[in-house]
Amino acid sequence: MSEIESILKEARSFAPSEEFRARAIVSTEEAAERSYRESIDDPEAFWGRVGRELPWLTPFERVLDWSAAPVARWFEGGRLNASAVCLDRHLETERRDKVAIRWEGEPGDERSFTYAEAQAEVCRFANALLARGVAKGDRVAIYMPMIPELAFALLACARIGAIHSVVFGGFSAQSLRDRIEDGGCTAVITADGGWRRGKVLPLKDVVDKATAGIASVHTVMVVRRTENEVAWTAGRDVWYHDAVADASPELAPEPMESEDTLFLLYTSGSTGKPKGIRHTTAGYLVGTYLTTKTIFDLKEDDVYWCTADIGWVTGHSYIVYGPLACGATVVMYEGAPDQPHPGRFWELVQKHRISVLYTAPTAIRAFMRWGDEHVTKFDLSSLRLLGTVGEPINPEAWMWYRRTIGGERCPIVDTWWQTETGAIMLSPLPGVTSTPPGCATRPFFGVDALVVDEEGNELGPNQGGFLAIRKPWPSMLRGIWGDDQRFVDTYWSKFPGMYFPGDGARRDEHGNFWIMGRVDDVLNVSGHRLSTMEIESALVSHPAVVEAAVVARPDDLTGEAICAFVTIGSGQKPSPELIEALKGHVSTEIGKLARPSDIRFAEGLPKTRSGKIMRRLLRDIAARREIADDTSTLEDLGVIARLRDESS
Ligand code: WT7
Repeated sequence: MSEIESILKEARSFAPSEEFRARAIVSTEEAAERSYRESIDDPEAFWGRVGRELPWLTPFERVLDWSAAPVARWFEGGRLNASAVCLDRHLETERRDKVAIRWEGEPGDERSFTYAEAQAEVCRFANALLARGVAKGDRVAIYMPMIPELAFALLACARIGAIHSVVFGGFSAQSLRDRIEDGGCTAVITADGGWRRGKVLPLKDVVDKATAGIASVHTVMVVRRTENEVAWTAGRDVWYHDAVADASPELAPEPMESEDTLFLLYTSGSTGKPKGIRHTTAGYLVGTYLTTKTIFDLKEDDVYWCTADIGWVTGHSYIVYGPLACGATVVMYEGAPDQPHPGRFWELVQKHRISVLYTAPTAIRAFMRWGDEHVTKFDLSSLRLLGTVGEPINPEAWMWYRRTIGGERCPIVDTWWQTETGAIMLSPLPGVTSTPPGCATRPFFGVDALVVDEEGNELGPNQGGFLAIRKPWPSMLRGIWGDDQRFVDTYWSKFPGMYFPGDGARRDEHGNFWIMGRVDDVLNVSGHRLSTMEIESALVSHPAVVEAAVVARPDDLTGEAICAFVTIGSGQKPSPELIEALKGHVSTEIGKLARPSDIRFAEGLPKTRSGKIMRRLLRDIAARREIADDTSTLEDLGVIARLRDESS
């Protein structure tokens, strides 16, 4: 069996309005096609031109060197600094006094920084790090809430050439410790705490546990945020506010080589210890800059909000580096979407007149569940473009997003990419692409994507298989920190000469790519390989269902049986009739083969704080096994206990 059977049928498709198209940065199919062709046929000409849009301290000599594949070298001979690309370049223009970051805390406090102010903050921060002995090439762990100083911390590291390693503020002390040790970090930047659902997350306490006994950490810099009491290690710990008080607001940016490491960001695979994904300076900036500009179609007067946390790659690329390189006004919000009420996001959109919104399918499904009344009481007319990222979006959630949030007028860009890819790889171009609900559509410029079978042979239209990428692209990872062999084994060995992202996909007769989820999540029922995501989408298209997760459990007869965990709408009640109705619905939507054996109602599904359903955990519950998974990033720990009770 070399193919994954594709069963989802979608006939709807939505083109951008004439009004949107006319103003878009890429506004005709011909222009899009011409750029794409050039980017594939002559990548050096294409990327060389884009590269020259960035401000260089020394111009690059060569666009691409692929001779040491799979480690690419982009823009060699050039020197630049990421903080200067994001900040200094705007200071000689009218953007100097434009708002760069408009921030709102969970309790409702607000701060905003112009580009000139942000640059001064970053220079002070960088000077304070230098004064503490942080040097070029050192690794700095960052464990912070979503406050402006988090964005400044990344840029301050970049300014002096230190390598940042951001660890999401929801990770446990052990996870933080593992990452500090693996990266050999010598300094940690944190805060006393952060606000989450009205409570203080005691971040400094976690850092103290994580760093206990690690002699290499000579500095812990602490931003005051929540004013909770914290323990203090004299000599090592320093208050950020004291450290920057006398620091100069000026500092020349360190000239970095194009291939110098900009940051590490850890990502967990299905097995083994987390991988420190290594991104370098120039290629990463070129990739995030161009994708932000063209996919979010950024205009000078846009107010742009990406709701991710900077602790994930989405926040690195599409809160900090991409949008600031473009000179955008970026909204940043500290807290939870339902704090103090389930309409908080929409209140923020109304208040800040947000025009471009980028969020995750898991959030969209939560809003659907909470009810339209929390949305419709706010004025969302400022929105003109919507985006999603993180997992496949079910067509019904996509339709809801389009209708209820986008007022049927905003194009939606469903963007597929990974921590490893650094920037968006598949996405509609909002002024051009006709988009079927739930489809990431087409490869971005320079992305040579295809769908292959188990042997690496390209598959035809509508045949499900493995997504693969043939050519190097500027923002690609350059390796795994400290483990070059694992980099080759994980991404470059399944199909020789091709990058393997680990996702299933099919390409339809129009050339659109449909992502079918992680290949580790594929089911095998009576010898048919089915994508969990397609069965989930069928369940969610039933009016009673708001969210579903499908996993396999061992079955004597069929090899694997389909077990569906289902969350239903607030007006619905679990019943044997509803179970039968849902099984029947899947049968009619996609066929008998996909009919679930078990349907279990769940109040909530176990998810990581980044919104990914923890399927391994559900597989354990479905098979009534002990839970072997690390649950330290689980959003709501109680959810496991409740699922267990319901399934026993
Ligand atoms: C995996 C990467 C990229 C930023 C956030 C996640 C899944 C991501 C989509 C999408 C279908 C998607 C893939 C991918 N994924 N975006 N638009 N449609 N699946 O980064 O944690 O590195 O996860 O997320 O499975 O491989 P990440």
